[in-house]
Amino acid sequence: MEIESNKKSAEFNFSEADLVKRTELFKECTNIVVGDGNPDADILFVGEAPGRNEDLQGVPFVGAAGKNLDKLLDNVGLSRSDIYIANILKCRPPLNRDPMPDEIRAHTPWLLKQIRDMKPKVVCSLGNYSTKFFMSLGDVDLMKKQQGISQVHGQVQELEMEGVKFKLIPLFHPAAIIYNRTKLTPLWEEDMRIVKNFIFNNGKSKPLGLW
Ligand code: URA
Repeated sequence: MEIESNKKSAEFNFSEADLVKRTELFKECTNIVVGDGNPDADILFVGEAPGRNEDLQGVPFVGAAGKNLDKLLDNVGLSRSDIYIANILKCRPPLNRDPMPDEIRAHTPWLLKQIRDMKPKVVCSLGNYSTKFFMSLGDVDLMKKQQGISQVHGQVQELEMEGVKFKLIPLFHPAAIIYNRTKLTPLWEEDMRIVKNFIFNNGKSKPLGLW
């Protein structure tokens, strides 16, 4: 389903959106992709950037990676109404290329505003870019020094950004899982037990077998 472009929406008249609007990505995209799910949830998932389907619909994670995310959430009894989901970049990079440092610098003030507004207790970073952004506490220059997702997935870190304290739980990107299901699905499921433990039990261990 295509929607009329939201690029001129009066909703997006604030300074963080203005930074996005000054980028080339904004000129080339169809829609700004802000977020989806429950903005009152305690848990925020953060992906990398909209792809083609997300650009056309103005909604994050609606293409193949999104369908896989919904399935992976469903497997552990969660749905989009339990979480909110956003991206590092608000506009699609041409041909889905990797985000560039200046684009991350221009687009993440909006993500940080979302964190101030939502005050999540748990942030699940999906894949390398999102994880490295949070592990660098938003300092884009430090991102390349961070370990990759294969090293840090499932390792809970306590962070404070924008005056909001939250647990960061890095997860594999659902698109990566599509390409390596046999190896990554069990790792994702293990990591999601940690996420659920934080959502339902504040990180305290629970007797095994309850989920
Ligand atoms: N991949 C992402 O990281 N984000 C989306 O919204 C879609 C695919």
